[in-house]
Amino acid sequence: MAVRGKARAYGNIALIKYWGKRDEKNILPMNSSLSLTIECFYTETEVVFDDSLNEDYFYLNDELQDKTTTKKISDFIDLFRKAARINMKATVRSTNYVPTAAGLASSASGFAALAAACNHATRLNLSHRELSMYARRGSGSATRSIYGGFVEWKKGTNEEDSYAVPIDDAKWDIGMVIVIINSKEKKVSSREGMKHTVLTSPFYKAWVETCEKDIKEIKLAIRDRDFERLGLITERNGLMMHATMLGANPPLSYWEPDSVLAMNVVRELRRKGILCYFTMDAGPNVKILCRLSEANIIKNKLKEFFDEEQIIVTGPGPGIVLL
Ligand code: DP6
Repeated sequence: MAVRGKARAYGNIALIKYWGKRDEKNILPMNSSLSLTIECFYTETEVVFDDSLNEDYFYLNDELQDKTTTKKISDFIDLFRKAARINMKATVRSTNYVPTAAGLASSASGFAALAAACNHATRLNLSHRELSMYARRGSGSATRSIYGGFVEWKKGTNEEDSYAVPIDDAKWDIGMVIVIINSKEKKVSSREGMKHTVLTSPFYKAWVETCEKDIKEIKLAIRDRDFERLGLITERNGLMMHATMLGANPPLSYWEPDSVLAMNVVRELRRKGILCYFTMDAGPNVKILCRLSEANIIKNKLKEFFDEEQIIVTGPGPGIVLL
């Protein structure tokens, strides 16, 4: 016997960052976060539970993955096997769709798509809220990729109430321009980087306190469709996350010279009246929040400094889709 499920999930970029866990096992964050789901990058995953299999197999972009990578997927699928009371092994086939060979590979779209595919295959009929909690167990940022548009991941008080909620569909001239500075795999993963920051940065307490305020304010900005306020909070919050890392011991930095160059282009554009704001994650790439209608002006300016292939324009993306 075999049962099959297939789903697509889109990537997301945090405007209020998730950086630090209070519970490593259940992936409970120190602070609530808020992101924009983007349409330029998504993952499609098929899972087939089959009682003739003796072990799990995981193919990523058609390549069979090693034991360590497969173990992470198996542990995640175990959550569904347990809930659905099945013990069939599975074959998982995942494909990342990226606009260029940018290596924007994302655990967010990956675990959200896998959660949705497992739900489909096991007929568990989980709600989006429940699915977001399952996705969370794979990777924190995956919690938010269940929904489209602006999404909040509520930090909650325990593993049953730390989930994502949709805030706004973002269909009001919102876009992003992503500058790929370096597509190589990062030296320090988000998981290690945030743990190190929580343990060693004296700025960490201030970070958590600031996020409490920022999340309230950014939701008001979204409600009022106040793009300038939205952007200013985004840019400041992202910089503050990186400041907590610079304060870690030893310090941690994901920036490269070209990251700073891209940030300065954004500041220059702003001086000329184009409202755009940057944010960065656990890598050197720079993501620019802008009016979708002005994205090409920003792209053209960036082309003076970067190759065209390094610049990706995207609109807001939707939530998970069953295939
Ligand atoms: C900087 O979700 O990749 O992108 O929960 O350990 O898998 P784990 O971490 P992950 O961290 C994302 C960190 C970030 C900010 C964000 O997306 O909120």
